[in-house]
Amino acid sequence: MPSCKNSLLNLTNFDKSKVDSLFSKALKLKENFNKHQLSTGVYHSGYKGTAALLFFEPSTRTRFSFEAACSRAGFHPLILDGGIGTSIEKGETLQDTIFNIQAMRPLFFVIRCNDQLDLEQIEKQLKVPLINAGWGQRGHPTQALLDGLTLFEKLKSLQNKNILFVGDIKHSRVVSSHLELSKKLGYNIGFCAPMEFLPAHIDKNIQSFTRLESALNWCDAVITLRVQKERHDNENIFLLEDYRENFGISKASLKNLKSEAVIMHPGPVNYGVEIELEVLNDSRCLILNQVENGVFLREALIRNIFNDEVGL
Ligand code: NCD
Repeated sequence: MPSCKNSLLNLTNFDKSKVDSLFSKALKLKENFNKHQLSTGVYHSGYKGTAALLFFEPSTRTRFSFEAACSRAGFHPLILDGGIGTSIEKGETLQDTIFNIQAMRPLFFVIRCNDQLDLEQIEKQLKVPLINAGWGQRGHPTQALLDGLTLFEKLKSLQNKNILFVGDIKHSRVVSSHLELSKKLGYNIGFCAPMEFLPAHIDKNIQSFTRLESALNWCDAVITLRVQKERHDNENIFLLEDYRENFGISKASLKNLKSEAVIMHPGPVNYGVEIELEVLNDSRCLILNQVENGVFLREALIRNIFNDEVGL
């Protein structure tokens, strides 16, 4: 992947110092936002140009988060939200769509798409940076980074911490990016899921748990994952009740979680399947902190791409 354009397709080219400085920039932006927004209601940057946000797959958090981050950093977001109402309905390819939008001279792209689109190839052909906002099952680097930021804010360091994933690990691009980030930040990864939700190959460094009780006991943070019904064959649906019973995060199961550990979820949440609504009231639950931090993380990332220290 060419790094000269500062694109972000995965985290393999990141090192610890780059992640640390991104986290401190995001936390500084958060501090400034709180200060200015509360005192004067004003928080903005000078206008720099446009950014193309192309979401070929559904999204709420990630799309709004990038929109908010763009406007805070001085970029007007041009948004494609699914193909409906665009020439994709007339058969125009996603590649063609991207290169036509490039001709309108946005200063960078943010793209969410499935595995069929070759983002690496597209990145090579683009004249401006490209940020991966969720690429099939391959990765979702800004989600892993915002999870990392939220953990860093709470736990101070991620080094040697035990981060447990519970749920549909096999289909999760969030997990793929955490496997990359954990190597940079030195945290341990654990998996707890029924066989059907586990990948065929599990690295020997990963702790595997069959029982939620012992997994929750082990971890400093549990990240529950959405059961991705759209990526399953219908025959797996019967598992949902069993799944809830054995792997669902509830007030009762959380008795096994350390008092200082935290609970996270990248969203969207299937309440009543992977997690019960009552968990939102647990003081260890950081689900909405992740969403809040996501905007600052993405703003910091965008500002870094343009070497912009304004607002700091
Ligand atoms: C995830 C995604 O879309 O990759 N959510 C997110 O971006 N916040 C996870 C999911 O779809 O379950």
